[in-house]
Amino acid sequence: MNDILTLTGRVALVTGAGQGVGQQVAEHFAAHDATVIVNDYFAERAQSVADAITARGGKAFAVQADVTSLESVKAMFAQARELAGPIDILVNNAGNLGATPSPDARKPFWEHGPEVWAGAIDVNLYGVINCTSAATPDMIERQRGRIITIISDAGRVGEAGLEVYSAAKAGAAGFMRAVARSLGRYQVTANCVAISATFTPAIEKRLKDNPEMLKKMMSKYVIRRPGKPTDVANMVLFIASDASEWITGQTYPVNGGYAFAV
Ligand SMILES: NC(=O)c1ccc[n+]([C@@H]2O[C@H](COP(=O)([O-])OP(=O)(O)OC[C@H]3O[C@@H](n4cnc5c(N)ncnc54)[C@H](O)[C@@H]3O)[C@@H](O)[C@H]2O)c1
Repeated sequence: MNDILTLTGRVALVTGAGQGVGQQVAEHFAAHDATVIVNDYFAERAQSVADAITARGGKAFAVQADVTSLESVKAMFAQARELAGPIDILVNNAGNLGATPSPDARKPFWEHGPEVWAGAIDVNLYGVINCTSAATPDMIERQRGRIITIISDAGRVGEAGLEVYSAAKAGAAGFMRAVARSLGRYQVTANCVAISATFTPAIEKRLKDNPEMLKKMMSKYVIRRPGKPTDVANMVLFIASDASEWITGQTYPVNGGYAFAV
């Protein structure tokens, strides 16, 4: 049977793929025959994901970079090009409060200042702008491309306690919509996947250690369980495939019904 989700011949770069959602996206892509560039701020995380994919017969290379630095991102794209060729699919996944969040990052936003706000904005907004600008010239030249950014429902509906993060994610979604308008004529699409509580190393332990909090949180989800990285990766795979060529500028929630899109 013809697999409409096949990524044969495609090269995909996934940021923050050393664990969590990004890792699962990298594994899904490799299982559908893409060559995957596994990026992370922490080189050893990226390497271990790339090694596991390779051990299963997939094609993957680890490339360390800090997506908040344009210089580092440019070096990553140059290295990826040498290893695997130009990038067909970019997944801007690195996010949350960054690789090395400030201990103050969860204090009320009015109790801290730009040095803490910058942590959330740098990775969730500048990281997306940096990687997208580095990926775009090859996509225009080759008249094809997929750009997918993982945002949060915090960026769609807002989340108390994560105000600056919410703003950065909403900014990334606005950037994707504008990029979709600029690049559609080159057959390059740009979309977001908006997720809510998904069990990844970033939050799993915190919630499992606090069952009351988890229960209260899940009461807000129509499907009363936290997300799994595969829930997200399934949607990202579809958007990355040729099957989605007429879909651009959209934000797709994958959230167990936490907040609907209209
Ligand atoms: N897990 C959730 O419940 C949840 C909810 C909403 C949105 N999200 C979003 O989903 C995405 C993935 O989240 P996750 O839970 O898998 O995260 P995670 O923290 O488990 O993994 C993220 C990975 O990104 C890497 N990273 C962080 N900053 C980086 C940088 N500057 N450069 C390169 N790599 C960097 C980290 O080292 C880490 O390995 C993020 O954008 C996050 O904001 C997650």
